[in-house]
Amino acid sequence: MPGVDGGKAAPGVAERRTSPGDEPGRASGATGCPRPAGEPAARHGGAGTGVVDAAEAEGFLRLFHAENRSAGPVEPRLREVLGQIARHGTYTHTAEELAYGARVAWRNSGRCIGRLYWRSLHVRDRRSVASAEGVALECVEHLRAATGTGRIRPTITVFAQDRPGRPGPRIWNEQLVRYAGYERPDGTVNGDPRGAGLTAAARRLGWPGGEGTAFDVLPLVIEAGGRPPLLAAVPGDAVLEVPLTHPVHGWFAELGLRWHAVPAVSDMCLEIGGVCYPCAPFNGWYMGTEIGARNLADEGRYDRLRVVADRLGLDTSDDRTLWKDHALVELNVAVLHSFTRAGVTITDHHTESRRFMAHLEREERSGRVCPADWSWIVPPLSGAATPVFHRYYDDVRLWPAFVHHRRENPYADGPPFTRPGAVV
Ligand code: ARG
Repeated sequence: MPGVDGGKAAPGVAERRTSPGDEPGRASGATGCPRPAGEPAARHGGAGTGVVDAAEAEGFLRLFHAENRSAGPVEPRLREVLGQIARHGTYTHTAEELAYGARVAWRNSGRCIGRLYWRSLHVRDRRSVASAEGVALECVEHLRAATGTGRIRPTITVFAQDRPGRPGPRIWNEQLVRYAGYERPDGTVNGDPRGAGLTAAARRLGWPGGEGTAFDVLPLVIEAGGRPPLLAAVPGDAVLEVPLTHPVHGWFAELGLRWHAVPAVSDMCLEIGGVCYPCAPFNGWYMGTEIGARNLADEGRYDRLRVVADRLGLDTSDDRTLWKDHALVELNVAVLHSFTRAGVTITDHHTESRRFMAHLEREERSGRVCPADWSWIVPPLSGAATPVFHRYYDDVRLWPAFVHHRRENPYADGPPFTRPGAVV
């Protein structure tokens, strides 16, 4: 992959990568959206086959009409949809149903602390796009639209749905922007260990690899139309990144840490009324701890606490000096400081916890159950110092929902590199 401009911009300023990426290529095979492991069949009768369960369709339509009085009575629409299902095994949402379904899927995401603004989700209806090349182009447009100049806009792009005998496209990457993890012969990883699997798969599909920095953006791997996957580089100007600096410690910039501005989850199915949209990347904005207390800190990720502690001059010989805790705080200060200075939307865990409490209250006032998973909602830093720690939640699952595909990579053992595809 040609050069990136990482590290050359003034510290604290967001950067866009400027160069296009790697060679494209395709391998082989395609699958639809399998039923999520452990889910009752009744709830997901059609997942994976493209065949819609009429009861799920009805449940969603009743919800849509109940929450959107201006849509009128549900009966005529229900008759129409049941007719479509009887004839074709599936049905087509109206643009309004799709947008509402996507927003409610966010509202129902029990692991997300940032749901206060679920109504504001910007929905890009791209259901007519089913080819890998089309998906690649629209994903890049998604990133540009969601990023803007740093004021990040929660956005989802919905591609073609699964239909009987015609599965929709799928993206292998877990997010549109993720960093490569290059495994060294000794088993250690340069870059993000979490990206090691996709990095290896992309290499087998013909990706020559990036520059070899710790922050090389992975190409998108997109499967569509029963054809071999397409490798598509994400153009540098669509990837906003923030080099990390610290408000007090000048040496922090020398660590060469950075993170991308937009978390855009791309490997979950959007399920609305029995219809499965296997390719529906969505993004919000970051909460600082995701980067500072997990991505850069976890031992299985960038594992940078010790280097930060060393530069801070902490005594790392004993856990009881709390050097990890101290380093975590400074790392998180650097993340929030750098994003703020760069004009990139980010939130802190105290503010976001308060907002979540407001969201819970609102949902309760609306007479709705708000599903929430305590172990995901409580921030990984200073948990008990936030209000979300001190209560229990309804750990139920509601639909519409974002659901994880069963992860199955048919190319794990090395696919044939069959034919070149398009560069984005
Ligand atoms: N935790 C993931 C990451 O660090 C992102 C998940 C979605 N996060 C969000 N703020 N919308 O990349």
